[in-house]
Amino acid sequence: MKALILSGGRGTRLRPITYTSAKQLVPVGNRPVLFRVIDAIVDAGITEVGVVVGDTASEIMAAVGDGSRWGVDVTYIRQDQPLGLAHAVKVAADFLRDDRFVMFLGDNVIQGGIRDLIQDFSASDWNAQIVLKRVPDPRQFGVAVLENGRIAKLVEKPAEYVSDLALIGIYMFDRNILDSVNNIKPSWRNELEITDAIQDLVDRGLAVFPHVHEGWWIDTGKMEDLLDANRLILDDLAPAVLGTVDGESQVIGKVVIEQGAEVTNSVIRGPAIIGEHTKVIDSYIGPFTSVYHHCEIRRSEVEHSIIMEGSRIDSVDQRIEDSVIGRNVEIARSPLKPKAYKVHLGDNSRVGLIGQ
Ligand code: G1P
Repeated sequence: MKALILSGGRGTRLRPITYTSAKQLVPVGNRPVLFRVIDAIVDAGITEVGVVVGDTASEIMAAVGDGSRWGVDVTYIRQDQPLGLAHAVKVAADFLRDDRFVMFLGDNVIQGGIRDLIQDFSASDWNAQIVLKRVPDPRQFGVAVLENGRIAKLVEKPAEYVSDLALIGIYMFDRNILDSVNNIKPSWRNELEITDAIQDLVDRGLAVFPHVHEGWWIDTGKMEDLLDANRLILDDLAPAVLGTVDGESQVIGKVVIEQGAEVTNSVIRGPAIIGEHTKVIDSYIGPFTSVYHHCEIRRSEVEHSIIMEGSRIDSVDQRIEDSVIGRNVEIARSPLKPKAYKVHLGDNSRVGLIGQ
C-alpha cells in the first residue's frame, strides 16, 4: 500500500494565519495537522508516501523534508492548480502506478488513526473503501447512500437530503480509480470531484465498500474547527512534565509541559500543552489551550485557545478565550497615555473587544 496526502489548497478560510503558513502546518495540540496525518499513515505500516503540493509547496517541503524523520520515503507531486481531489489523483498517477493506496486530506484529523482500516482494505479484494461519518449538516460534504452493505450512490454537496453519511477525506483505492478520474468531467465548481470518480467506480460495477467512523473527525478548514480539533486532541493527551514547574505553581489535570518550558507562579489547568522553551509567568492557562514553542505568557489568563510560535502575551487584564493567535504576535499593555487601543493587524485579522 502507498499513501497519497493532499496538501495543496490556499486555506482562504483560515486567513490571516494562512497568509504566512500552509493550512496543513497549523499546529493543533502543538503538532502540525499534516504531521498528525503522516503519524497515522506511519502507524498503519505504510512507508511510501506521496504528498501533493500546490502554492505552498516550499513550506510543506521544508517542514516534512524527505520523510526520514518518520522512517518513510516522501515523494512530492506538484499540482499546479487546485482543480479538485480527483485531479490530484490524476497528477499522482506516475507515483501510484498499479498499487493500492490510501488518500488522506492533509488538513483532516481523525480519532484513533487508520491502522485497522488499512489492514482490512489491504487484505481484501475490494476496489475501494470510503470512510464515512454521520454529520448534522450533510450539505457541506460529499455524501454516500448505502445499499446491501455497499456504496450505491454519491452526491457532492447535496442541496436536497439524500444521506447524512459524509465522505470525510480518507479513501482507499485500487488502480481502477485511475481510469475513473479520466472518465469524469469538472463539476459546477470547476473541480474534478473524487465523489464523481467514486460514482464512476460504482457505475462500472466495482466493489466500493463503506466504513462508518464512530470516533471524532475534524476538517480543520475554519478557525472554529481548529479550536475544536485542538480541544479533542488535548483531551486524548498523556500528561507529562518535561520542563520545569516551580513550587509556587499548580499543574492540574492532563497537562503536557514540553522540554525547556518554564512555569513560574502560575496555574495550568488541563487539558493543556505548554511548548518547548515557552515561559509562563504569573499567569493562568486554562483547559483546551495549546501554547507553542518559544512563547511568553506573563501576568495574563488564556483559555480554549491556540497560540503559535514565538508569541508574547503580557499583562492583559481580561481573560483571552476562543482565540487563535499566529506566530510572533505580541499582545501587551499600551503606555498609559494616551489611553487607547494600539494595534498593528494584518489583513483579515479579527479582534473581539469587550463591550458594555
Ligand atoms: C471535500 C470533498 C467532499 C468531502 C470533504 C471532506 O470537500 O469534495 O466530498 O466530504 O472534502 O472534508 P471540500 O473541502 O473540497 O469542499
